[in-house]
Formats: sequence, structure tokens, C-alpha cells
Amino acid sequence: MISLRAPAKVNLYLHVLGDRSDGYHEVFTRMQKIDLCDVITLEQTGEPGMRFDCDDPALSGDDNLVLRAARLFFSAANLTGRQGLAIRLEKKIPVAAGLGGGSSDAGTLLQGLNRLHNHPLSVAELVRLAAQIGSDVPFFAVSGAAALATGRGECLAEVASLDAYWYLLINPGVAVSTKWVFDNYALTSGKKKSKLFGSQKKDRTTFSPEDMHNDLESITMKRYPEVAEIKDSLLRAGAEAALMSGSGPTVYGLFLRKKTDSTALYKLAEQLSAVYDGRVWLTRAYTGV
Ligand code: C5P
Repeated sequence: MISLRAPAKVNLYLHVLGDRSDGYHEVFTRMQKIDLCDVITLEQTGEPGMRFDCDDPALSGDDNLVLRAARLFFSAANLTGRQGLAIRLEKKIPVAAGLGGGSSDAGTLLQGLNRLHNHPLSVAELVRLAAQIGSDVPFFAVSGAAALATGRGECLAEVASLDAYWYLLINPGVAVSTKWVFDNYALTSGKKKSKLFGSQKKDRTTFSPEDMHNDLESITMKRYPEVAEIKDSLLRAGAEAALMSGSGPTVYGLFLRKKTDSTALYKLAEQLSAVYDGRVWLTRAYTGV
């Protein structure tokens, strides 16, 4: 039996660069894994076939991305029908929140199955399978904690993990569909091209809080004004910068660790948690352990 931690991500910036002929959008984004994790347990069983259960009944169906990932893996590794597998998923990452939870479960499972079966597939093969599941899944099928992503989000270049900060996350408790946000972006933005700025241009591997920008933010904020309110309250609370992650609606604030009194920050998180019904997380960059 093995237990895997599937981390959430935030987008430190996300630029939509244009439409693609496949119906998706060309993006340029910096993704960072953070230490808010779902837990996946894998157990090889005697009887063939797959068993899956999840502590969230709404996600226990046959269409869970985790099952899709497992089927793709077994087929690509020529292991279909050989042995049984029981998968258990414990959700901690909120769903449809812009934090990549479902994508992380699928990508982490691909990595885990490859390990469990003694690495029949290369990293490139895992990434190729991951891209068939969703645009964000490849990032979670590789081990690095931070990457620049282009294309649909599936072309990755590893960069340094941003571990100088605390990440304070607030989710307003509404579910947002990524497809809905991109569809509305296409309708409202015309052919306007996103501008890259700051260290995104000068040196693609460095990062400064001034670079934080998300082209999808205004779309989600227009529909859910509470997203803008949360962003304001994080900035008022002293965050270095604050941004909506992905297609939202979760917003995070960055607090420089060496400048921040962690006891006071924990207290702030507790107070916010009372306001936002427990949907507040104070985390650090994901370290993989
Ligand atoms: O790839 P994934 O299934 O996660 O994407 C969900 C939806 O988000 C897509 O169906 C598409 O409408 C939109 N999307 C997009 N461009 C991207 C990623 C996602 O238009 N780069």
C-alpha cells in the first residue's frame, strides 16, 4: 500500500495569449505547488479490476479523473487486467476553486502508479498521458514544485519554488467552471493580447510580486464580486500581493516569511476562517515531503 500527497497549486501569473485552433487558449503562466494536499491511497488487490472510493460522495463516480488516469496508465504500460487496484481519495482541496485539485489527483496518481510498478513509463510518457486528461494535469505528473507553463498549460519548464512566502488562501464558497471563465474571456476580450511585464520578460526564471497578474480575474470578479472583496481584505491585512488563482474563485495573499510574525498570521487566518466558514488555509510552498 502506498500513500500519496496530491498538492494544490496557485498561479503566480496567468496570461491568456490568444485562441488556438483546438478551441483552447494559449496561456503563459507560472504555477506553484503549495502544501494543501489531497491524500490518495493505493493498494494492490488479489481480484482484478479497480475499486475507487472518495470521502466526498459527489466525487465518487466513475467519471473521477483519478479513474481516467489509472485506466490510461494501465493501458499505456500494458498492464490492463493484470492485477487489481483499490484507490481511496481523501479530499482537502476545494473543488472547482482554481487550485487544480482534480488535476493534481490525476497527475499524482500517474506518478504514484509508475512508482508502484517500477517505472514502466518515462516522465515524457506520463506527461503525454496527463495532457489527455486536462491542461493542468502534466504539472502534477512531474515532481518539480514550480513551473512555467505554455501551450494549453501542458508545456512545462521547471523554475525555482517560491518558498520565501506564506500563502494565505480564501475561498468564497462558490464553484466556478474553468470552461465558463474561458468562454466569457473569449467573448469579452476580443483579440486583445495580454502584455507580459516585469521579470516575466527580463528573465523568465525569476519572480517578483509586481509580476502577479491574472487575465481571468476580471471575468470571475464580475460574476462573483466577493472575489474582489477578498482580494482587498488580504491586501488590507498586509499581504505583499494578492491574486485570484487560475479561473478562481480562490484568492491568495503572499506574506514574506522573514517579515511576518507567524503567530499573528495564524491568528489572522483563524479570524478570517470564522468569517469565511472554514474556507481559509495558511500554507507554504510544497516541498514534496
Ligand atoms: O483542459 P481542461 O479540461 O482542464 O480545460 C477545461 C476547459 O477550460 C476547456 O474545455 C476549455 O474550455 C478551457 N481552457 C481553455 N484554454 C486552456 C485551458 C482550458 O480554453 N489553456
